[in-house]
Amino acid sequence: MVELAYNGGPAAAESLEIPEWPRLNEASRQYVDEALESGNWCRNAGGEFCDRLEEEFAEYHDAKHAVAVSNGTAAIELALQAAGVEPGDEIIVPSYSFIASASAVPEVGGVPRFVDTDLETYNIDLDHLEEVITEDTKGIVGVHFAGYPMDMDRLIDIVEDHDLFLVEDAAHAQGTEWRGEKVGTFGDFGTFSFQESKSLPSGEGGIIVTDDDVLAERARIMHNIGREQGATGYRHYKMASNRRLSEIHAALALGQLEKLDEENRIRERREELLLDELEDIDGIETKPRDDRITARGYCLENFRYDSAAFGGLSRDDFIEALSAEGVPVSDGYEMPIYRQPAFFRNEIGRLLPDVELPDYRHLHLPGVEELCRTNVSYGHRLLLAEEEGVRSVATAIRKIQRNVDELLD
Ligand SMILES: Cc1ncc(COP(=O)(O)O)c(C=O)c1O
Repeated sequence: MVELAYNGGPAAAESLEIPEWPRLNEASRQYVDEALESGNWCRNAGGEFCDRLEEEFAEYHDAKHAVAVSNGTAAIELALQAAGVEPGDEIIVPSYSFIASASAVPEVGGVPRFVDTDLETYNIDLDHLEEVITEDTKGIVGVHFAGYPMDMDRLIDIVEDHDLFLVEDAAHAQGTEWRGEKVGTFGDFGTFSFQESKSLPSGEGGIIVTDDDVLAERARIMHNIGREQGATGYRHYKMASNRRLSEIHAALALGQLEKLDEENRIRERREELLLDELEDIDGIETKPRDDRITARGYCLENFRYDSAAFGGLSRDDFIEALSAEGVPVSDGYEMPIYRQPAFFRNEIGRLLPDVELPDYRHLHLPGVEELCRTNVSYGHRLLLAEEEGVRSVATAIRKIQRNVDELLD
């Protein structure tokens, strides 16, 4: 008799009902209505919502300043420009992330240097970070991948020892805390995305936070096409782009911020119970529990799959089998960033014609390459499902393991 849903059997995770995302709440609806009715749809027209969002986001992070911008990519670019990146400066970037964590660097004239990825945490491999620091290195963009924070104790020590700047790409980590402090506030800048899939979404949008008055002023001028802080009109003092957030998007993000903590606590509880189950399954490697992580934010979540514990079933076939059981999973970011055609075809040579570039084409970093072969990802929405449904994820994996012969030739 056929057991596995992939072969036509009953799905093991039928009870898993994953809520829709994004979720419109009353506050978002009300603020967007107010922004629309105000007639000030651009912050330069005198609207209040970009100001309010910046104030509340900064307060939520216990940060001195926040500058709302058009998206998370623009946030990283702006942070790098405000930090003073000049043509040819080397910036260390993660090898496993959304491409913007690295591509923002050549966009502002810097040279990305990839560091390997730690298999356990999916973050920058701190054991290998210092090997890629050279005399031309000016800073680091590190990502709190999937909301799981980088080890800020070790990272800050390295940053200080080498006198580098740090941009924390916290696009995945709205609400994550390290030793009671929100991530994004340890480095010179923290950058966030409000793109629709994120846990604080406004369709498109982003924000940067910093405690540094000078950096904040620079960022403010540069996000508004070189105008003086808060100015409108036609005097421009810096060569810079327009990265302003619209009032409508700011209103939407402000409303979404009101439910972020409540949803994160639900995700945290569901993840706890899922981890309890997954940790007992041979061949499923989850991220380590760490007492220094005092609150978690989410975007996607991951575990690693060892095909040897599943009779040799390939990771891709496992993903198809688990999805058929009713658990939507994927291979996530399928390649290291340096394997992206944008790097492989040396597109950045076009952006930086006079700069000597590393040989990305022949780069091999073992950690990230293994990660790309073994990773399984799911979205943060899954962790908003009811407890029984979340538990059924583990039931479905065990069922595949028990009946794996059905899938092997
Ligand atoms: C880690 C990371 N950094 C930066 C970004 C860029 O954000 P945006 O899509 O808002 O430009 C993303 C978006 O997916 C991301 O996942």
